[in-house]
Amino acid sequence: MKPVKIGLLGLGTVGGGTVRVLKRNASEITRRAGRDIQIVAASARSLDKARICDTTGIRLTADPYEIVNDPEIDIVVELIGGLDPAQDLVLQALDAGKHVVTANKMLIALHGNEVFAKAREKGVMVAFEAAVAGGIPIIKALREGLSGNTVEWLAGIINGTCNFILTEMWEKGRDFGEVLKEAQALGYAEADPTFDVEGVDAAHKLTILASIAFGIPLQFAKVYIEGISGITALDVTYAEALGYRIKLLGIARRTAEGIELRVHPTLIPARRLIANVNGVMNAVLVKGDAVGPTLYYGAGAGAEPTASAVVADIVDVVRTLTSDPDNRVPHLAFQPGAIADIPV
Ligand code: HSE
Repeated sequence: MKPVKIGLLGLGTVGGGTVRVLKRNASEITRRAGRDIQIVAASARSLDKARICDTTGIRLTADPYEIVNDPEIDIVVELIGGLDPAQDLVLQALDAGKHVVTANKMLIALHGNEVFAKAREKGVMVAFEAAVAGGIPIIKALREGLSGNTVEWLAGIINGTCNFILTEMWEKGRDFGEVLKEAQALGYAEADPTFDVEGVDAAHKLTILASIAFGIPLQFAKVYIEGISGITALDVTYAEALGYRIKLLGIARRTAEGIELRVHPTLIPARRLIANVNGVMNAVLVKGDAVGPTLYYGAGAGAEPTASAVVADIVDVVRTLTSDPDNRVPHLAFQPGAIADIPV
């Protein structure tokens, strides 16, 4: 069977990690996917930066539209982030009949309904495991592992940058601004880090998790958002003295009025597991009616942890391509009939 051809949009932290993981684990990935997977082209804003990974055999271009319009490419992997030009590129790729794998939480949270409608119209797939909680397969856990449950609530540390900052402030008494700079240097933070520290990135991720867990439309505007920029060293010290840790949590809860969605700093008793999730690690607690509470833990940001989720999505899409269309379960795009209009 001929190889599946990938076009990569973006060769930054996650793009570089994706190239490395696909190359390093090529034979195992081929065995699991059932087909050879080849990155044939990649776009990067600055072609010099593309040196963070070995791009031998990959056609490099500064023009992402060259990839989206390349008839040879089967799957477009969007790792640019933000809306402009990522949104247009993704819609054009779907229009051209290509499957899309993306790590773009902002795009899915704000325009996912439009993206999924286009994917359905064209009969192609959109996969976005890497958009939430980095390397933790939380989308797959919710869709597959917990599909027999009614989810009662979920709560998670879903921004690695904020958790890294709060941990360093608590453990080492370090200054907020200095730790944020370190998070940026480590490739954890968003291009505009106010999205991290003001809770917006966590709200994007919560919007996506809630949509899957509760079968509701993506409704970012309904999330109450408060970030960590107002947290001081003194707050962290007092919390510790009282037996608590401060964590930025994203919480989605089924109530009599609808689904409550909120992101804010939270005092958590220090003995709780989730209070001891430190550094860039993320954790998501999900309470299902049948299974009870479950906990998912892992690196929430960074090159290879996020690439792990991107590559898993590529493998899923390739497996699905190879399978009988009637057996394509789970479909990676949202199903319109599955979305109940629960007031939020
Ligand atoms: N800026 C994000 C974070 C990257 O810190 O969690 C991963 O989505």
